[in-house]
Amino acid sequence: MENKVRPLVDALKLGKKAVFFLGAGVSTSCGIPDFRSPKTGLYAQLERLKLPYPEAVFDIDYFRESPQAFYTLCEELYPGKFFPSKFHFLLRLFQEKDLLQKVYTQNIDTLEQLAGVDPEKIIAAHGSFADNHCIECQERMAPEVLKAQMSKKSENDGIPTCKKCQGYVKPDIVFFGEGLPVEFFDNWDEDSANVDVAIVAGTSLTVYPFAGLPAECPKSSLRVLINNEIVGDFKLSRRKSDIILKKTCDEIALLLALELGWNDELDTLIEA
Ligand code: OAD
Repeated sequence: MENKVRPLVDALKLGKKAVFFLGAGVSTSCGIPDFRSPKTGLYAQLERLKLPYPEAVFDIDYFRESPQAFYTLCEELYPGKFFPSKFHFLLRLFQEKDLLQKVYTQNIDTLEQLAGVDPEKIIAAHGSFADNHCIECQERMAPEVLKAQMSKKSENDGIPTCKKCQGYVKPDIVFFGEGLPVEFFDNWDEDSANVDVAIVAGTSLTVYPFAGLPAECPKSSLRVLINNEIVGDFKLSRRKSDIILKKTCDEIALLLALELGWNDELDTLIEA
């Protein structure tokens, strides 16, 4: 494994910055399930919600008809209960060493921010819980109001409802059937031609357009996959220079920290 990461370590030592592309696998060690892992993934555990198919819980048309399923999960997924992983703190160290270009994340757990990554460097491709809007009239609802309505099960079964039009309100996480934030496209327009090091971690690269980003990185990019399984473009169109690290994100975070001589700093961040 040390030999495999050598070209990455060398590039970083030369001051080449990394763009990260993240998915749910970077947060499984924090106690948050990913989506598609057999047995442990969220989609394998949703029988209780009686959905027509598992992804329906995040489908805007299904939500419009049956918001209860999402709101049953929402309480479990709501940020605030989880602590960042070794891998999240490694992102922070990349930032402190001026080696972090951008973090494109599909995750809505906000753990990158909690680990101290500058919000301006984080592109929340699938939105976040930071704000909420009515799906009918787009009226905003503050997070405190949403949480208060969620906990009042006696009113509308705890489903947050717009004070203006009585439409259902949902957090600004991107559902299937909705567009990604403009910020995602604007940033990628700027970054796509300019990726020296691309680190893809903890994602099955299933959901587009995000899943297509590694394939759009320039041929000159050093692409690295850190994942339990080989996925997406790393499987279909593997490049000669690609580095495939089939280990957990935290194992590789530790290995990289050791190889870069950052181990003590990583420990200090985690213990702080
Ligand atoms: P997935 O559940 O599809 O993929 C997670 C990947 O991480 C899988 O390939 C796992 O094998 C791998 N994995 C899990 N734990 C790991 C670990 N500790 N170390 C290394 N690899 C690990 O999750 P995403 O790719 O993030 O979208 O899913 C993409 C989108 O699908 C999500 O953002 C969500 C979902 O539907 C929406 O809800 C819009």
